[in-house]
Amino acid sequence: MTLIDVLSPDERAESTSPWWVGAVAYQVYLRSFRDGDGDGIGDLKGLLRGLEDIAALGCDAIWLNPCYPSPQRDHGYDIADYFDVDPDYGTLADFDAVVREAHRLGIRVLMDMVANHCSIEHEWFRAAVRAAPGSPERARFHFADGRGAEGELPPNNWQSVFGGPAWTRVTDAAGRPGQWYLHSFDSGQPDFNWESADVSLHFRRVLEFWFDRGVDGFRIDVGHGHVKAPGLPDWPGAETGTGGHNHAMWDQPGVHDIYRTWRSLGDSYPEKKYFIGEIWVPSIERLAAYLRPDEMHQAFSFDLLVQPWDASRLRTAIDAGLAAAGSAPAWTLSNHDVHRTVTRYGQEQILEPTDPTDMIAAARRIGRADLDKGTRRAAAAAALLLALPGTVYLYQGEELGLPEVFDLPREARQDPIWIRSEGAELGRDGCRVPIPWAATEKNFGFGESDSSWLPQPEWFGRYARDRAAAQPNSMLRIYEQLISLRRRFFAGDAPIVWLDTERPDVLAFQRAGATCVVNTGAQPFAVLAHWQTGAPVIATAATEAETVIPRDSAAWFAPRGG
Ligand code: NOJ
Repeated sequence: MTLIDVLSPDERAESTSPWWVGAVAYQVYLRSFRDGDGDGIGDLKGLLRGLEDIAALGCDAIWLNPCYPSPQRDHGYDIADYFDVDPDYGTLADFDAVVREAHRLGIRVLMDMVANHCSIEHEWFRAAVRAAPGSPERARFHFADGRGAEGELPPNNWQSVFGGPAWTRVTDAAGRPGQWYLHSFDSGQPDFNWESADVSLHFRRVLEFWFDRGVDGFRIDVGHGHVKAPGLPDWPGAETGTGGHNHAMWDQPGVHDIYRTWRSLGDSYPEKKYFIGEIWVPSIERLAAYLRPDEMHQAFSFDLLVQPWDASRLRTAIDAGLAAAGSAPAWTLSNHDVHRTVTRYGQEQILEPTDPTDMIAAARRIGRADLDKGTRRAAAAAALLLALPGTVYLYQGEELGLPEVFDLPREARQDPIWIRSEGAELGRDGCRVPIPWAATEKNFGFGESDSSWLPQPEWFGRYARDRAAAQPNSMLRIYEQLISLRRRFFAGDAPIVWLDTERPDVLAFQRAGATCVVNTGAQPFAVLAHWQTGAPVIATAATEAETVIPRDSAAWFAPRGG
């Protein structure tokens, strides 16, 4: 990084917009963030210690992946009790301490709302398995008789996102095979039946419970999933093997009523609680439907995440995000479900169109990566995102430039995707390895135990936070500076004005007078004189002439004295 002009981080413009416009939210995958009690698993005490670092990075909020009691079949996305904290992570008192400290540091706290499914260990599901077919207990889930002479075939042909049929058969009280239950994900995650009044009332109580503890909002897990097509009809795509989007399973019109109810509850708090959806749908129009004024505030613009490093594809995805969300989309390069950015951008880039709902094809590819190239591009992509209007979500470890860990021992892998695909797919463990804090400490400063729940590779020390903090050109320093400069030049929701770059591999736009230029190509790009960009304020790669943007890098410019 060449930092041409360093500005004070405290120059945040006064604004009347809601807090999330222009904000940066840090995604905490708690299990891998920091271990405060020495059991090899990240926890709330560890997070408490790390909050200052998140604040120092300049983040405005944290999004916590699920920390409720869970048998951890899908690491917290299988919840056994929505009103408590998993003992692996601490206690409700630890949770309250995190909220208090985060608020003291000016950081908002977002939790994860997993309402499509729970865990097979949830008391409702246990009761449903014990109860008879047709009982009120079973009506809270999707239980159905099987097909075939003996009911030995699943009730329909739906496939689980994690591979294999979306149905599992239970055994009745007499030990005979009984009905089947629906699970869009792992068999440990039974889907709720949102037609049931018990279910909607339960989730209202869950929201109130956490809002009343000071939580500022929720990220909504599989927000396009909660309601299924009436009658659970077969999906024609399954037979033809076309993959893609099963409309009977996803994005049913009834989901929108749920968010209207939640939004009106959130709005009844004086500080107005916030919702952001994880919504995988095939079109801008479908995404926009979730963002109507009485539904969610934001939904992730995954379209940008799944694009290759290609200027025109990136621009199209940005335009799509803006078209769906208006002035303040939620952007992200990475999360706990996809391969690390540095690795993705260092791999061969696949330019054929991808199905936007197919994460695996686009963001979980296996293949050799040129990490130098990937790192350059990831830094440039960070500069691109942090210049955009809206909110940027930053997955823990991205600020360290961590690559995907492909070399995890087979026996260490835990992701249900790995297990259900019998190793055909690596799954998501490689982006969830506990993050390195200190290059020369045990477990690279993650915690005091002899090992961590996923083993860290030896090479992780190179990426440790303490090392990165001491290096002027590290990814961490680039992120710190970008976030601080964003507050000054790119906060707010001023619209994008695209500039004609005369080069298909270069992207450039202005917002509120400041300019962002991203060169995705292999040749340097000289900023065009007639753009009148003012002075350079940051560049992600060293450059001799301040107005020349080297290959795979980005720079920001701002009016002089601005
Ligand atoms: C999306 C979450 O991000 C992912 O980690 C989880 O496995 C599924 N939803 C199921 O809850």
